[in-house]
Amino acid sequence: MSKQYFFEAGSFPDLSYAELIAVFEAFSLKKDIVHRYSQNVFVIKSNDIEKDVLLRIFNRLGGFIRFGEVIDDIDTFLNSFCEKKNKVVFGISVLGFNSNIFPKKLGNSIKKGLKEYGISSRFVAPKRDEKALNAAQIVHNSILEKGFELCVLPNNSEEIYGSTIDVQNVEEFGKRDLEKPYTDVEMGVLPPKLARIMINLTSLRDGVIWDPFCGSGTIPMEAAVLGFNFLASDIDSNAVHHTEENVKWLDEEEIIQDIFYESFRLDVQQPDHEIVKKLSNTDISAIVCEPYMGVPQKRVVYPEIAEKLLNNVKSLYKSLFDLIDKKIEKRGIKLVLIIPSYKTTNGWETFGIRELINNRWELQNSYFSGGRDLKWSRKNSIITRNIFILYRT
Ligand SMILES: C[S@@+](CC[C@H](N)C(=O)[O-])C[C@H]1O[C@@H](n2cnc3c(N)ncnc32)[C@H](O)[C@@H]1O
Repeated sequence: MSKQYFFEAGSFPDLSYAELIAVFEAFSLKKDIVHRYSQNVFVIKSNDIEKDVLLRIFNRLGGFIRFGEVIDDIDTFLNSFCEKKNKVVFGISVLGFNSNIFPKKLGNSIKKGLKEYGISSRFVAPKRDEKALNAAQIVHNSILEKGFELCVLPNNSEEIYGSTIDVQNVEEFGKRDLEKPYTDVEMGVLPPKLARIMINLTSLRDGVIWDPFCGSGTIPMEAAVLGFNFLASDIDSNAVHHTEENVKWLDEEEIIQDIFYESFRLDVQQPDHEIVKKLSNTDISAIVCEPYMGVPQKRVVYPEIAEKLLNNVKSLYKSLFDLIDKKIEKRGIKLVLIIPSYKTTNGWETFGIRELINNRWELQNSYFSGGRDLKWSRKNSIITRNIFILYRT
């Protein structure tokens, strides 16, 4: 019987789904082998994909927490640990809501069962009120090295089991977010996981990525970690310097190696002629960016403020599209961008992507998302980041 694998998405499963499909495409794998098993679990059914390839894919993703193998027979799986001489450390997680299984109860009965076979074990239970372990608990308890994590995967009609192979490297993401030398909170900083997702939505594995609004460099940094070469530019020369220093830090920390990059000051609304010439002669594979969205807002804004902020974003993007369409004239290029929605006293305000693009640009969201909106928005946040995937024909 062929093996099946599962990927568990993080907090934005529709966005994660699109990311998974895009990365499958980057690895020349067909999207129809990805089955949406439940809201946040995706099962891969295929006879001819190697586990190592899926593991490599998992390690590129920003929007996924777990990767594992579906277990055909739970007794055979547990028996395989009965030959272990050392103490087994194990965890239980239920990945979904439609289950009557409680991790603690199942964990205690497995512990008892192992004891009957003379195996001593340590059971790591999810935190109070949680049904799944978090990635940090799995790593800190060395669960995957010293034993196993058994996952219960329920959906509306069945319940299957899985064994975790790897979890997201949350510490590395956290380190890049919190320990990099420069962060410009006033300008707004993208979460590294979202930057990673956006880069992956290009469906590319290598090439050159350009971020024309680089700020302190979250997108260039994640691009470099994935092995892309990049261009980073910004109207603000301090931002360019901060990106350079942050990337140098990645190099010093040996997080990246052999990345070619250039960073320079560029106002997309008044682009310097020489830089435009250079950009048109550079082989750019994709543009990935987040525009300036105003000083981060703490409260719901008045509609007039939102309108002003949105007009600024629109005019910045219009200049960028003019630059690409009329001056740099790139064809066959991918563009992944963010349009914000602001929560106002009258409800949410945004504008449509169609206001920005001419018919050279193909909107690819529905191909990757199955018609669902691609959004990143934290609970109680007053800003939503809407993500769009474009291809210039
Ligand atoms: C929200 S920040 C980008 C943050 C970045 N993604 C990060 O995580 O650090 C937007 C950036 O756009 C830049 N910007 C604003 N107007 C610009 C223009 N006309 N041309 C180029 N960059 C511009 C700002 O200086 C700012 O650094």
